[in-house]
This record gives sequence, C-alpha cells and structure tokens, in this order.
Amino acid sequence: MRYLAILGRQPDISLAELSALFSRVSLVSNNMATFSSDTEPSIARLGGTLKLAVPLSEAPLDYLISLPEGKITLGVSDYSPHASARKAQGEALKLKKILTRHGRSVRVVENKTAAISTATSLHNGLSGSKTNKIELILNNKEWWRVIGVQDIDAYARRDQARPARDAKVGMLPPKLAQILINLCGPLPEGSRILDPFCGTGVVLQEALLMGYSAYGTDLNPRMIDYTRKNLEWLRENELSPSRGHSEATAEKQGASPVTTGASDPSPRSGSIHLSEGDATNFSWEEPIDAVACECYLGQPMSQPPVEIKLKSEKQECSSIILGFLKNLSSQIKSGTPVVVAIPAWLRPDGSYHRMNLVDEIKDMGYNVTSNSRRGLLYYREGQIVARDIIILRKK
Ligand SMILES: C[S@@+](CC[C@H](N)C(=O)[O-])C[C@H]1O[C@@H](n2cnc3c(N)ncnc32)[C@H](O)[C@@H]1O
Repeated sequence: MRYLAILGRQPDISLAELSALFSRVSLVSNNMATFSSDTEPSIARLGGTLKLAVPLSEAPLDYLISLPEGKITLGVSDYSPHASARKAQGEALKLKKILTRHGRSVRVVENKTAAISTATSLHNGLSGSKTNKIELILNNKEWWRVIGVQDIDAYARRDQARPARDAKVGMLPPKLAQILINLCGPLPEGSRILDPFCGTGVVLQEALLMGYSAYGTDLNPRMIDYTRKNLEWLRENELSPSRGHSEATAEKQGASPVTTGASDPSPRSGSIHLSEGDATNFSWEEPIDAVACECYLGQPMSQPPVEIKLKSEKQECSSIILGFLKNLSSQIKSGTPVVVAIPAWLRPDGSYHRMNLVDEIKDMGYNVTSNSRRGLLYYREGQIVARDIIILRKK
C-alpha cells in the first residue's frame, strides 16, 4: 500500500526516518514524501511525520457521499505548489454545496492556510479515527485521505508532565527520541534498546511506548534516579491498561515496530534495566539489540562560543563520544544499529560547526551511513548547540 507523509519542520530528518523503516520512499516536494508499507503505519510512532494519508480511490464527492449517515466534518488541505487558503476553502465549500443537495449535513473546517495546521486537524477530530470527520489532501490534482495526524498534545504531555526534569542536561524532545530509535531501522517487538547517556530517560520512555525494552546507563547517579522516577510515572500514566484504548496502550501492543496490531508483546517487551556507569569503560549486559542516544552535548550556551571555548568543548565532547564508541564496539554484535546525537555549535555566521569524527568512527569497526557525511542536524531557529545525528552499524 502507498502512503503519503507530510514531513515535519526538518524534512531531511523526517525523510531519513521514513527511509529507515519503509520501502520506495520518494520525496514528492520539499515537505511531502510517499512510501510503501504492507501494514498500516501508526503515526504515533513516527516523530518526523505530521500527517499520514492514503490515496483516495474514487472522486472526493463519491467518497463523501458513501460515508455513513450523520453530519460530516470536512477539511481540505491543499499542498499543491501555489495553493492558497482561499482555493482550498473553495474546494471544501464546493463539495459541501453538492453534498447538501444530496441531503447531507456538512461542517467545513476553516482554512487559515492552504494546508490545515496539525493542531487544527487534531482539535477538529480530523485525525482519521472518527468516521465522518474527514481531512482530504489535494496535491496537483491527486486526492488523499488523512488517516493520522501527529498528536502534539500527547508529545507535550510526555515532555512536560514527567516528574523529574533537568534543564541543564538538555531536554530531548520525545519526537526526536522516537526518530533516533526509528533511525535504527525496523526492530522486532521486545528488542532491547540501550541508551548509555540516559539522562532523564526520554529515549527509554519512547522505547517502552514503542513496545521495546529499555536499558539505560549514565555516569551520574542522580540521572539514573531521574530516569527511574520518569519511567515509573510513564508506567502509571501512559502505559497503564486503565487508560483504556489509549494511544500508548495501542502502541504497546503493536505487532511490529511501526504498526499497531493484536499480537502479544514478547516476554522481554517493557522490561527496564538501569545502571550507573561511565560509557567510556562500562561493560554492558547482553542483549543489546540497538543503541539510540543523545551523547554528552557539552555545556549549555546562550551565544555562539568564541574560538578557544569551541576548541575546549569539542575536545571534551569528542573524547567522551569516541571513548564511548570504542568501548561499545567490542561489546555489540555485527549488524547492531547505533544512532547517536552529538553536538554541533552555531557559528556567528549562522552555520553550524560540526565535529568531523567519521574517519575515526569507521576505524573503530562501524559502517557510517551516507546521511551522516552530509549531516542530519536537528535544531530550533537560533539554538546554539544543535544535535548532529549520526547513523552507524557495527561491521
Ligand atoms: C545531553 S544529556 C542526555 C539527556 C537525555 N537524552 C535525556 O533524556 O534527559 C547527556 C548525559 O550524559 C551523561 N554523561 C556525561 N558523560 C558521560 C559518560 N562518560 N558516561 C555516561 N554518561 C555520561 C550526563 O550525566 C547526562 O545525563
């Protein structure tokens, strides 16, 4: 089956995430891609995708007329080049007019922009789960039907409601944590994800929600304590069966990494193992099925570092990162994916200074994917320390 993904704020990273998981991934425009999957992907597991849609196999009017009885809520998002809010709204009103003539009651969601925002889609219930609440996507005369919208409220809750947070260690956005895990490629249910710099536990939290098991280590005992508290909170609030048919519960029961299904999680699914340890010399316990982490990113900064400061930060970070990867290399099996976010620093000219560690990393027994040479930089406008994502696989 062919799917359309509306890509997130950093389309190169969203595209890399889709490419790691699906086949025939192809960029349609700068913020849209299509891909193939045998099973329906769950948008709740794709940190880099804002909306997911399937091709509309009939004309939009025929599809809408065939909906079950009752009021229809309709949104039309036009992603074609040169699309306007007026044109998109016009399409929706045209459909409403004909549907009304057929005796159907229709509410049209207002287009403030040509493409309805994720928040508007979500808050109008156009996320694909409600029968008569429909968002159609138009792109160059091709029509698609939205089957999933990124649940920004769920991400915000997972980010902000956790009991143990620490601004100093950096706050990894949950959707980026998902992306780091997904960049490891498809993993069997119950796979054990290691984060050797677990901090407050965002990667491990997302791993558990995706039906994997979590293995976290960190140099700082306080961080281990924070991770433990946060994962306990997650168990009680996000993974608890008492939440009923929640997104988290559905995800946890997923049969494969990117689908939701009915098969039972494997016995290892959901297990948590935490230890204090220095990633440059720690001996981890087997099994390690994948490694996804945000390494030490150096000191938080409020302005671009001067040359001398940059040099010392780079030195400190590269010694930890290279020390960690060298130590890890002898402890994981051939083929194990390792996805690591490392720091890159904003220069006064607006570009980012990246650490060029690729050659040293290759010498340690890893294959480095082509993306890593070009760089996958994750940052917010003006952010001083960006995250540079590198994707490795043990030779
Ligand atoms: C950028 S933070 C990671 C934050 C984390 N992603 C989270 O969800 O909160 C880096 C972490 O690396 C830890 N760290 C620094 N040097 C380390 C080392 N040599 N071995 C293991 N952990 C280390 C720090 O204690 C800190 O918790």
